[in-house]
Amino acid sequence: DWNSGNVIAEQVARIRAQVGTGKVICGLSGGVDSAVAAALVHKAIGDQLVCVFVDHGLLRQDERRQVEEDYVKATGVRLVTVDVREQFLTALEGVSDPETKRKIIGREFIRTFEQAQAELIKEAAAIDGDPIRFLVQGTLYPDVVESGGGSGTANIKSHHNVGGLPDDLQFELIEPLRTLFKDEVRAIGAELGLPAEIVQRQPFPGPGLGIRIVGSITQDRLDLLRHADAIVRAELTAAGLDREIWQCPVVLLADVRSVGVQGDGRTYGHPIVLRPVSSEDAMTADWTRLPYDLLAKISNRITNEVDGVNRVVLDVTSKPPGTIEWE
Ligand code: XMP
Repeated sequence: DWNSGNVIAEQVARIRAQVGTGKVICGLSGGVDSAVAAALVHKAIGDQLVCVFVDHGLLRQDERRQVEEDYVKATGVRLVTVDVREQFLTALEGVSDPETKRKIIGREFIRTFEQAQAELIKEAAAIDGDPIRFLVQGTLYPDVVESGGGSGTANIKSHHNVGGLPDDLQFELIEPLRTLFKDEVRAIGAELGLPAEIVQRQPFPGPGLGIRIVGSITQDRLDLLRHADAIVRAELTAAGLDREIWQCPVVLLADVRSVGVQGDGRTYGHPIVLRPVSSEDAMTADWTRLPYDLLAKISNRITNEVDGVNRVVLDVTSKPPGTIEWE
């Protein structure tokens, strides 16, 4: 029967056999799958693995630190962070259309990896000068089934999972999670000693906060949304609801303003939408009936603590007809 210790031992042996003395890279997104895949590969082959983390500025509060500090401390992986926040902001300037945002984010991601290659190769060469031959992907069993069995080449779920690398990099893939379901991946992550904030993380879209700002993306809007999102996550966690909720997008309606009142004056601020959903697989979902007291607390905190927000609204739409995200 299933046992995370056995799966780890089996995968470690398999990875060693596949890789030999070769070099491997892995993109970390901050999510569970890539984190566990990289930790498994690192356990198998140590510093033959180099990880890369892209800070595109669309991350949530604390995500970069969790990877750079907590994850690296727990695993000991070699990590290269590429800071491309300016590049992404510039590329996204003035863009409101959701599909255009996704395309730009996907394109900039690939560009970033191409630019980072030189640095990665240098980091890997510091070991012994050999080129990088392998790429780790955190593909899970449901991803394999969804894409019709998978082809064994670098067919990354294109921009649905923006953490991917371009096909023409021609790496051989290592996919140590290919036979596993999400809860099994979490169990393995815990067994490998990864931080709980990463192992228990709920789904978060590759394009990040970029598709949670309805309207164009600016630094101020990102900061505002990041702040509101951090409050929501902290309160849901404090209420012990992380496991009951599939995910809870927090959305900034940047193109909408409403009149409010605060102290002696009128305000003219933006609404924040809470979108807590319950789901098995994200294909269908229902809105989560959060306790009223918790909603009140979240609303009070956001309107008091986040400048520019004077209203918090709750999305009570199932999927279908609504999607989980607003864009
Ligand atoms: P929707 O909004 O389509 O979302 O109901 C279903 C699930 O997919 C996530 N999602 C994305 N994930 N890139 C991703 O990696 C994307 O462009 C993207 N759009 C939606 C969403 O968070 C939910 O879990």
